[in-house]
Amino acid sequence: MERFVIRGGNKLNGKITISGAKNAALPIIAASVFAGEPCRIENVPEISDVRMMGKILRYIGAEVTMPEPGVMVVDSKNVKADITIPDEMTRKLRASYYLLGVLLSKYGCASVALPGGCYFGVRPIDQHIKAFEALGATVSTDNAIVDVKCDELYGSSIYLDVVSVGATINAMLAAVKAKGLTVIENAAREPHIVDLANFLNSMGADVRGAGTEVIKIRGVSEMHGCTYSIIPDQIEAGTYMVAAAATGGDVLIDNVIPKHLESISNKLEDCGVTVIEGDESVRIISEGGRPRACRVKTSPHPGFPTDMQPQFATLLTICDGNSTVVEDVWDNRFKYIDQLRRMGANIIVNGDTALITGVDSLHSAPVEADDLRAGAAMIIAGLIANGETSIGNIKLIDRGYENIVEKLTAVGADIARVSFDED
Ligand code: UD1
Repeated sequence: MERFVIRGGNKLNGKITISGAKNAALPIIAASVFAGEPCRIENVPEISDVRMMGKILRYIGAEVTMPEPGVMVVDSKNVKADITIPDEMTRKLRASYYLLGVLLSKYGCASVALPGGCYFGVRPIDQHIKAFEALGATVSTDNAIVDVKCDELYGSSIYLDVVSVGATINAMLAAVKAKGLTVIENAAREPHIVDLANFLNSMGADVRGAGTEVIKIRGVSEMHGCTYSIIPDQIEAGTYMVAAAATGGDVLIDNVIPKHLESISNKLEDCGVTVIEGDESVRIISEGGRPRACRVKTSPHPGFPTDMQPQFATLLTICDGNSTVVEDVWDNRFKYIDQLRRMGANIIVNGDTALITGVDSLHSAPVEADDLRAGAAMIIAGLIANGETSIGNIKLIDRGYENIVEKLTAVGADIARVSFDED
């Protein structure tokens, strides 16, 4: 069993280079199956979620290699869609459900066990099903296996009742080869949706409007391999921006698209932190006293990302004054707050709102990563706490952060991955 052990109190100083985006890489790797020939995907983060997606593709017959660091080549010529992707694979990777859209569109059938992933309340897939059915598929769920099939898919109008990243992506994937025009309305606008659209178009698809609320897809019959480089990870960058701010540091976060970080940069500025945007970098300077309290509310892009909520709330625990954090995407994403309380944070949760009264500092305690981003929050808490903090369940953090120990150590953090006996 491994834990992260952090001796807090060091200000972070230096440069961190951001890896490719997890939430873009996963649907893009799944979508490479459309090519039926090799696709070279670059700037792929080396994280366990990506390894799991590679494993699932191999399971259905693809050849998946990593010929050099950060590069994945997928050759999908031998993929078979008549194989059920089992629960032991999908339980660990929510993005496995993107293979429903891909395999349905390319082969007319798919069978995938209901997906797992981080738990922050009920995570329905009714909007994914609605999109598949609108295109002419039949969908059934037996023994927690989702089966989708069709004779032919036809372009259609799909209005999503909620702004859902997953449903927008699955609707796009299913429509790529459907005959005629599909219009997805009330679509999510996250950067990784734009990245997926660019990748699909590089393979010969015709997807327009990604990044707006209306995406139009004209089905194509043929697609082909391509070389494509994934965008930088907005949430990884945001996590290090907040870590720099929380430790009173001065850190250049490099290889980012500053526009993708605006909602996070704006909130840091509300806290009195200096954010200097470069062409492909942001510099965070947080010297001289405690940052100010502020109000944060999560919402779909371009709003403040729910995936940054635990990390930002951790910064707010040591800000000067009373802050509020409203979680407007998920109904149960405050579980990690119990762990912060163990470290001295003063937080009251009332429904979808956390009321945070800033304290001078946190103190160390043994804590656990409840999910991927909650785990990132524990690391930030450990970096600011007095004493030695030990964090368990770190395999959840490894799902989404490449070389996190190395990157933080390079800017002055005292963090180590330590193996412990189970006993
Ligand atoms: C969501 C986040 C994404 C984040 C990910 C993991 C948003 C809009 N999405 O993406 O940024 O990376 O969590 O933390 O911020 N919903 C339905 N029916 C569906 C699908 C979703 O009601 O079929 C609801 C969900 O319950 C949720 C909301 O829509 O309240 C957003 O869900 P969705 O965007 O699909 O989740 P993810 O794709 O996992």
